[in-house]
This record gives sequence, structure tokens and C-alpha cells, in this order.
Amino acid sequence: ADTTPRPPRPTLSDFHGVSMVHYFTDNWEKVQNFKARPDDILVATYPKAGTTWASYILDLLYFSLRQPDRMTSAPIYERVPFLEMHIPNFMTGTDFADNLDTTPRLIKTHLPVQLVPKSFWEQKCRVVYVARNAKDNAVSYFHFDRMNFAHPEPGDWSSYLQRFMDGKMVFGSWYDHVTGWWERKQSYPEIHYMFFEDMVEDTGREIEKLCSFLGLGSTAEEKQQIRDLVQFDTMKKDDMANYSTVPVMDFKVSPFMRKGKVGDWKNHFTTTQNKQFDEDYKRKMKNTTLQFRTEV
Ligand code: A3P
Repeated sequence: ADTTPRPPRPTLSDFHGVSMVHYFTDNWEKVQNFKARPDDILVATYPKAGTTWASYILDLLYFSLRQPDRMTSAPIYERVPFLEMHIPNFMTGTDFADNLDTTPRLIKTHLPVQLVPKSFWEQKCRVVYVARNAKDNAVSYFHFDRMNFAHPEPGDWSSYLQRFMDGKMVFGSWYDHVTGWWERKQSYPEIHYMFFEDMVEDTGREIEKLCSFLGLGSTAEEKQQIRDLVQFDTMKKDDMANYSTVPVMDFKVSPFMRKGKVGDWKNHFTTTQNKQFDEDYKRKMKNTTLQFRTEV
């Protein structure tokens, strides 16, 4: 029997207009007053959009490629702390971030743009935002919620998909999240907006674009090495990347590195669900120029 002590499943509640669970709001005072530094880099995503992948690439670019010891010294969620996290028996995200002794600090958040602590904007920090098409994002989130005890029970797929459409997910509506960050980019140019689909299609090209955004002069050889190190199968086997050390997750239910593909939604959506989803999507996304690909 599985005897791992786990926190109780939380319930969803409204937090400043966004569905949240207390594990990400209990430390709000400190999150809101977090002191960013001008060279901090924020990795922002809706959950399951490719956060870990992007964090891993950034960590390699800045540190781990040149000091490989770092790669085995600590799991990725300690090298790139999760700002708003407050899980029992675990250091808070803000403490993790405050304790980072690197420059730059790489910091992860799932907050919708309007809830990001103001210090990041004041310090003009650079932001790497990763977005993933709604269908695959919903599927990935469903499997994640099944295995992650820090989130509410997902229930069955069809009710889950309805809740996804209603924005009743931890960190709120996918639609609001991806468009909110997209709109912010118009007035705050220090946001590099990336797509999971592009990373799957051509990881090397996306690493290249990231380097030019960050002004990094990594060599072609270094970029090639990073490309090899961040392949799905390599990261899946790596205990420092695959979250296998996190007590709130049950990997017998579903692995963190699950499939890493574009288009897995086709194995989950029924024809009717797909039709309803597409109609609803058109309505919700009618006012944005943001476009996604659901296959590559
Ligand atoms: P799937 O559940 O579709 O497999 P996040 O890090 O934001 O939680 O996102 C997790 C998703 O990214 C999972 O998607 C995971 O498999 C995928 N992922 C993580 N690392 C990856 C990699 N190196 N290549 C492809 N997909 C990756």
C-alpha cells in the first residue's frame, strides 16, 4: 500500500476573481511584497504548458551546462523556485527564491498577469511566457490533477473538460491567462512569448530565439548540447527533472513526464466534445490576435 503522507486535497475557491487553492495563496502577503531584482527572469505559464521544459533550458543556458554538478545537485523546482507555492513541510517559494545565490535568479510562476507581484514590473524583469494549445493543455492538466494531491480531484474527463471551459481550474481560466499575458506583451516588450507546439516542432530553433531575446552568446555547440539534454526521453529519466522526488504527487497514477506530444487531445476528446469546445473557443477567443496550433 502507498503510505506516503500527503496533504488533503484542497477545494477550489475564488481569489481576486481567479479560481485558486490555498496552497498557492496562503503565502500571499510575501508573494505580493516579493522583491524582484532587475536581472531576475520570470518563467510564467498556465500549468502544464511546458514550464519544466522551459525552466530546464534556461537553467542549462545560464548555469548547468558550464557547471554540470548543478544538474545533479538539486531538482529543477529548487533551481527554479515556484514563487507562490506554499506546501506543508516544504520551504515556501518566496523563501526558496530569496535563498537563491545565483545571478540571474530564475523564478517560476503560474499567476495570471494581473496577479504578478508589482516588483517584477517595476524592476523591468524579463519574462519567458510559454503557452500551449487549449486542448492538449486541458488533457495534460487532467492527468496532472489525477496524480497531484495539491489540486482538487479532477473527476471524470467530460466534467473536467466542462470545468476547463468554465475556467474553474487552479490558476483560473486558460483563456484569460494566455490572452492576458499576450495583451501585456503589447505594452511591456520584455516578454518572450513561446509556444509548446513550436518547441516540439523545432527545439533548436526555439532555443536560438530564446538566446537572442536574452542576449546570450551561447555557441552552436552549446545550443546543440542543450537540445540533446532537453529531449523528452532524457528528461523523463532524469530524477532531477521528472518531479519523482515530490511527495504530493502519485506517479503510479500518472507520470509527470507523461507524453510530451502535440495532438494527444485526439485520444481524449469525443467528436461531440470537440465540436462544443471549438464553438465555445471561438466565442471566448474572438477578441484576440493570439493563434494556436493543435497539431504540428
Ligand atoms: P503531457 O502531460 O502532455 O505529457 P509543465 O512543466 O508546465 O507542468 O508541463 C508538463 C507537460 O510538458 C507534460 O505534458 C510533459 O510531458 C511536457 N514536457 C515536459 N518536458 C518535456 C520535454 N522535454 N519535451 C516534451 N514535453 C515535455
